[in-house]
Amino acid sequence: MALYRSAIIGCGGIGGLSDSPGDKNIISHAYAYQSHDNFELIAGCDINQDNLSEFKNRWGDSVKLYSDIDELINKEAFEVISVCTTTSTHAEIINKLLLKDDIKLIICEKPLVATADELNLLKSNLNKFPDKKLLINFPRHYDPGFSSMAKRINKNEFGRPLSFNGVFVKGLYHNGCHMLELIEYFLGDIKTVSVLSNQIVQNDIYGMYSVETANCIGTVANFEPENYSIFDLDIYFEKGRIRMAEAGHRLEIHKPAKSKIYPGYTEIYSNEVIQDSFYRRSYHTVEAARSYLEDNKINGRTVFEQHLLLSEKMLILKDKFCSNIKTVTFK
Ligand SMILES: NC(=O)c1ccc[n+]([C@@H]2O[C@H](COP(=O)([O-])OP(=O)(O)OC[C@H]3O[C@@H](n4cnc5c(N)ncnc54)[C@H](O)[C@@H]3O)[C@@H](O)[C@H]2O)c1
Repeated sequence: MALYRSAIIGCGGIGGLSDSPGDKNIISHAYAYQSHDNFELIAGCDINQDNLSEFKNRWGDSVKLYSDIDELINKEAFEVISVCTTTSTHAEIINKLLLKDDIKLIICEKPLVATADELNLLKSNLNKFPDKKLLINFPRHYDPGFSSMAKRINKNEFGRPLSFNGVFVKGLYHNGCHMLELIEYFLGDIKTVSVLSNQIVQNDIYGMYSVETANCIGTVANFEPENYSIFDLDIYFEKGRIRMAEAGHRLEIHKPAKSKIYPGYTEIYSNEVIQDSFYRRSYHTVEAARSYLEDNKINGRTVFEQHLLLSEKMLILKDKFCSNIKTVTFK
């Protein structure tokens, strides 16, 4: 059994401070590495000393700490690394990591980059290092519950998709990438996105959008409520409905049945709830990394290339919608 030495750059929320050892929910990369038998967390790096000390408190004295990425790269040997820093630093950090011989796989937080220039440089550097593997952390993609749902859709259990509605908080670029990733995972490549309403807030976009995929047309809407968080997706099919709620912890399947109220009518009723596996979300990402390194049970290269294309689409949407262009069509 391979044991991969792993490190984390960016020891804030998603890097290591969103959970603690023993918690039920595995949210951070630190907890994911520590929970998985094939990984050993050896180091963390952050420019914020308070976060570094708290990271050490939670994840143990054996984890070596660095406040300088070059020092981490020069002093430590590791095969897997997570990039969990602020989005605008991802590309520069990955470009450095690609030059380190012993690194086999990089897990980068979403969004992959902040600008098109960063993406273009990163793509050309990735081409120079075809043996280096990269995964973007879209955790629903690697979750067994979501994967089983994708398989059931592909096997046509629910028939033709008819429509969908996604609702989420935070910006379309920063958080909507999770939503559009999920829509592509379930319903095929996104072909056209049109603005129904749109406003620019802090360099990101909010509103309501119609989204046409290879198989279906639906809407997504995002807003910023003051006192709760939301990430819901509802998909209607010929033979039922899939409803994702509670950020992905609740996956329901609804099927048509004789109406309990209206004689002669058929309605759709909840008839199955998929057991929550998303509480181990980051564990599953790390397991996908192991699989990509070893057995290709997840076809990591294909998944990454799909996510790279999505990253490009997200940048184009942000750019066009910020320039008041109302419809974007992709090839
Ligand atoms: N996949 C998900 O569901 C998910 C969830 C939350 C956050 N994120 C993404 O993860 C990233 C981090 O988000 P967060 O909420 O953990 O932010 P955070 O601010 O809590 O943590 C970021 C950490 O990176 C450190 N940092 C910044 N620049 C650095 C550098 N050059 N070198 C070393 N350390 C540096 C900061 O000091 C901070 O400790 C963002 O890209 C965000 O979009 C993804």
